Amino acid sequence: MFERYKNFIHGVSGNAAGLWGVVLTTTSFVGFILFEVARLSGILTNTYVGLVTYMLFPALFIIGLLLILIGWRRLKKQSGRTTAELMKQRFGDNQTKAALFGSKVFTTIIILTLVNILFIVAAGSRMMAFMDEPVFCGTACHSVMNPEWVTYQASPHSRVKCVECHVGEGADALFDSKLNGLWQMVSVTFDLLERPIPTPVHQLRPARETCEKCHWPDKFYGSRLKRIERFKKDEASSVMFTTLNLKVNGGSLSQKGGIHWHVAGENEVRYASVDDKRNEMIWVDVRQDDGSFRRYTNKTISDAESNHEDSRILDCVDCHNRATHIYENPGYAVDERISRGILNRSLPYLKREGLKAVSADYPDKESAMRGIDNQLRGFYRNNYPDISRKQGDIIDSAVLVFQSIYSRNIHPEMNIEWGTYASLIGHIGDGGCFRCHNSNLVDDAGNTISDDCTLCHSILAYGSESSFKFIQPADSTDPNFEMHKYLRDEFIKSAGL
Ligand code: HEC
Ligand code: HEC
Ligand code: HEC
Ligand code: HEC
Ligand code: HEC
Repeated sequence: MFERYKNFIHGVSGNAAGLWGVVLTTTSFVGFILFEVARLSGILTNTYVGLVTYMLFPALFIIGLLLILIGWRRLKKQSGRTTAELMKQRFGDNQTKAALFGSKVFTTIIILTLVNILFIVAAGSRMMAFMDEPVFCGTACHSVMNPEWVTYQASPHSRVKCVECHVGEGADALFDSKLNGLWQMVSVTFDLLERPIPTPVHQLRPARETCEKCHWPDKFYGSRLKRIERFKKDEASSVMFTTLNLKVNGGSLSQKGGIHWHVAGENEVRYASVDDKRNEMIWVDVRQDDGSFRRYTNKTISDAESNHEDSRILDCVDCHNRATHIYENPGYAVDERISRGILNRSLPYLKREGLKAVSADYPDKESAMRGIDNQLRGFYRNNYPDISRKQGDIIDSAVLVFQSIYSRNIHPEMNIEWGTYASLIGHIGDGGCFRCHNSNLVDDAGNTISDDCTLCHSILAYGSESSFKFIQPADSTDPNFEMHKYLRDEFIKSAGL
């Protein structure tokens, strides 16, 4: 058997192309098997091992086969012989053409061809499966997908595969995504990719095919109590509570519900926006019981501006654009870490100094890590030398937490800064829900889409030390400054103060 293979190898490697072909096919075949065994038995776990096993080896194998063919054709051309004659010469078999079919060489070729086909099918299907793994999508083109990979791992969907949101079901979706993947490989290789990757993502599969496989829009009931802790920039980083009762109910066609009314049952809201960013609406249509649509038109937009008439039906992603790749607001990120207890508020001015450190401008990651370290240690050394000396370990761990806040959210290599990818849930500034729920969109009868403060949530506490005591508005750099003022005034009015 071995003898036969040796003969065969000698036969096909009559020139450089043939020889290289044999070397490539043999090493990639053996390599694939070894790596596959090592991966399955858990000896090798690195993502790049997967890349080598399922992409590089099969590719080399196929190149090897092609080289063997090319080598053979060259041999034929140079010697001017037919295949049968050449085989006789190269393999030393002395049969006639008819007898060739019974020869050892021929059975060797048949066996090797079968092995090749099996190998290509097996490697191909392993490759397809591997390409659906989040580690592949998230790390194959490392620097490019790193931000999405980092945010994904910290999200409620870290157990949901990328392809379950990005690809959807069916052969055409699969084909589209592979085509798109190919294009991405080309654009990464030649650096054609836009940085940051522009959103909204147009190739995202419709939410009907993705989100709704797991979340059923008709099954949103009741409301959700959300208690948020925010911290002041004073010495003690004092806590303030905001408690919202979010009306996440779906409701039904005629009987309206809450927030998920937009996507429940037969309901349909569609809109046209000034540009692709979907920020400024030209009109918004709402489906009525009889199937007709009621239109709210933006009275601040002139006809000339309103020619971008690509309309879109509102779905999950129009609100949950950050369902997985959640980038934080710097202040809220610090609040969240204090709230979870991984930042120790016993350090004076922790919120203020930490926020200053993470939101400063840094040219790259290394200087950011150094800058955050210097800022915090410098502050405590200069102002609280005692604490700096005695509580060094608390400061150490705070530095690490602030550095990780930065790394999670800021990605200089992709030009992602604070606020690059804003969330549409909620209403910082005029964004999110207030893109439609505002007084500029009016129907024929002059009605607007309500922006009543209790339409979407009741507010049980706001900036309060405890239950219902509103405090001073935060400073004017707070994104919710106007709202703070409004709420405080409302509170004072209703409390008769
Ligand atoms: C739960 C669903 C979900 C999962 C799982 C998911 N994504 Fe996304 N992803 C989205 C949505 C929704 C957007 C669209 C944002 C938009 O259009 O504004 C998005 C956007 C993106 C973008 C565009 C840039 C950005 O940050 O908005 C990239 C790149 C991306 N995803 C890659 C990935 C990778 C890689 C994985 C797996 C590691 C993954 N996604 C997993 C839902 C998901
Ligand atoms: C393969 C199933 C699956 C798909 C597809 C999926 N999700 Fe989820 N989603 C989950 C699971 C499971 C959780 C709960 C995670 C937990 O509670 O730890 C979740 C959580 C969520 C949450 C957070 C709920 C909370 O408690 O804060 C939101 C919002 C959400 N999904 C929206 C979406 C959107 C939007 C899409 C489509 C872009 C989507 N999901 C696609 C399974 C899925
Ligand atoms: C009009 C905006 C909007 C649309 C459209 C929308 N959601 Fe939501 N969704 C919200 C808001 C707001 C919340 C509450 C946010 C929070 O809890 O912080 C929420 C909460 C959720 C939750 C957590 C629910 C709970 O009971 O705690 C899930 C899961 C979810 N949405 C999934 C979806 C899916 C899937 C779709 C599409 C079928 C969808 N949403 C469409 C705005 C929307
Ligand atoms: C694309 C436009 C658009 C966006 C964005 C939007 N809405 Fe709406 N919303 C509407 C329209 C239109 C109505 C129905 C107005 C009417 O009664 O004719 C509505 C109605 C509602 C209702 C009342 C449902 C009922 O039963 O009366 C709630 C609650 C609501 N929206 C919450 C939200 C929240 C929360 C967000 C942001 C996370 C949001 N909406 C974002 C267009 C939008
Ligand atoms: C169209 C629906 C809608 C309307 C109208 C609305 N809100 Fe909200 N509001 C939301 C949603 C959604 C959130 C985000 C909840 C979350 O963090 O998930 C939010 C968040 C908030 C928060 C918490 C901000 C924080 O610190 O994170 C406050 C405070 C608030 N709203 C006050 C108001 C006030 C005051 C008004 C009236 C001027 C108002 N809202 C009108 C939907 C609405």
